[in-house]
Amino acid sequence: MCGIIGAVAESAINPVLEGLGKLEYRGYDSSGISILSNNEIQTIKAQGKLNNLKQRLSMQPIEGDCCIGHTRWATHGKANVTNAHPHQCGQVSVVHNGIIENYLQLKQQLMQWGHHFNSSTDSEVIPHLINHYLAQQMSQEEAIEQAINQLKGSYALGVLINGASKNLYAIKQGSPLVISEGNNGAYMASDAMALGPDSGKIYYPKDNELIKLNTNEIKLCSGSANKKIHYINNKHCVKVISKGDYSSFMEKEIFEQVDLLKRLSVNNHTGEYSTINFKNLNKITIIACGTSYYAASVAKSWFEKYANILVEIDIASEYRYRSPIIIDNELVIFVSQSGETADTLAALRYAKNKNCQTLALVNVANSSIAREANFTFEIFAGPEIGVASTKAFTCQLAIFYKMAIEAAKQRAFIKNVEVKQLALNFMKLPYIMETVLQRCTDMKKIAKKLANYSNALFLGRGALTAIAQEGALKLKEISYIHAEAYAAGELKHGPIALLDEHMPVLVIAPKNTLTDKLLSNIQEAQARNAPLFIIGDSSIKQHISLQENEFFELPEIPESILPIISVIPMQLLALYTAQILGKNVDQPRNLAKSVTVE
Ligand code: AGP
Repeated sequence: MCGIIGAVAESAINPVLEGLGKLEYRGYDSSGISILSNNEIQTIKAQGKLNNLKQRLSMQPIEGDCCIGHTRWATHGKANVTNAHPHQCGQVSVVHNGIIENYLQLKQQLMQWGHHFNSSTDSEVIPHLINHYLAQQMSQEEAIEQAINQLKGSYALGVLINGASKNLYAIKQGSPLVISEGNNGAYMASDAMALGPDSGKIYYPKDNELIKLNTNEIKLCSGSANKKIHYINNKHCVKVISKGDYSSFMEKEIFEQVDLLKRLSVNNHTGEYSTINFKNLNKITIIACGTSYYAASVAKSWFEKYANILVEIDIASEYRYRSPIIIDNELVIFVSQSGETADTLAALRYAKNKNCQTLALVNVANSSIAREANFTFEIFAGPEIGVASTKAFTCQLAIFYKMAIEAAKQRAFIKNVEVKQLALNFMKLPYIMETVLQRCTDMKKIAKKLANYSNALFLGRGALTAIAQEGALKLKEISYIHAEAYAAGELKHGPIALLDEHMPVLVIAPKNTLTDKLLSNIQEAQARNAPLFIIGDSSIKQHISLQENEFFELPEIPESILPIISVIPMQLLALYTAQILGKNVDQPRNLAKSVTVE
């Protein structure tokens, strides 16, 4: 992942530091900048959060009009200052997002040529290679192109060269990159959201287009030299996102869900979904990673139950390497909040190569996945800052639910009156969600008890198995408590061996057709002394005695929308448990919001 940014403008460090703040979701192991100041490249780096770099810079202010910056998510080499970017060799400084797969061979070759390396990163070979070719009297453009010709892997690069003219270069292969021309400068970044207000016009370069930015112009170099840059409007600029009165972005995003769902339930995008001919589809395949994958899992149950469509789901990193069987009239849907997840993007390219019809479900409208798929539907969750995905998940589910309604209509598998009921349930959804969120203090009591354990087992049944998985993922991500989720019926096939007084079992047990089945699973856990936590219907309490801090009561919820509502207590539980344990819920360790490396 990592975030890169560059600016050629007066006091270029300001847009770079502001942009790094907005890119920190991509990684926060270390950060750094290089700036051309008094005809010299100065590089300042710091370990840890961006604030550490800002503190260093406040003690040592530097001015200059050409600057690059980086925020790191460590792949090769520990998270320390030496491995922080930019990496410099002579008069060349580079920021890199991606992975150079053949860096070891390149490093050995460069060392034989007398180069000395400081870091254990893959990225450091890049400035060395460029410097090597510059020393052979090549032009800046030629040296960069020669260097990148040697690279295998993925990259988005910002290259600062201190030469006769002050130039900043940008180039990418497989990793996201955006260029912007403003009134007061020229900019490049990993993501349009990182660009400041002076960036109304943006351009997404194609792979291996070398772009030169300087105070006079932004120019496509070399092979594409005669091509004109076609800019589009930057929808993301000038938006400032704050967490308001909430303790964290994650908390804000959890409570925002009611309004988002209200908007989605009144906005009639169904017309848009009717562009898909569900009637003729033989199969839908849904591909995603992490939380988005759990949304796919819930969607599968809706499409099958209400529209009788065969649905296969897969994790993106598996799909692209497993020779999937593709059939006639198959629609492949790619779900991604960021629209930049490297595995999902690669799976999309794989499916397109196989001539599949592809549809993207994304939150970021201009993202790579959105741009490359045949069709794109937005989920309209607004920028999600917390690394742990919450509102994007419920908005993904909402769009899938609407698509399932459209599919049900077209395929006439269920009666008209049932289709109408599904739509009616959707209208009720935000109001029921509001009731659940109003009970958040009950969840704080449960979190206080759960925070005493190091492990937990989450159980659900049917579509709620995916919600148990999503709940376990949330808890792991931000509280670092080890949690695993199972379809409750699987308990006796193995995980039951784990149960004793140290292994709490959390069960999602709302009133639905599977409640009785779940009751047996709950009793099996209780018989093994496992501490129980139930999120469910009050009728459960007639069968099992539960304390206040062991039971979260769900209101009456129509079965079709249960998954969307049941995830709310799981999000709250993870949030409060992590807060009790004193964790940084917005920026959990080792994670990044957008996973742009394989
Ligand atoms: C969610 O809490 C995670 N941080 C992660 O699993 C995420 O959902 C996954 O990386 C996929 O991201 P995407 O939706 O942006 O593709």
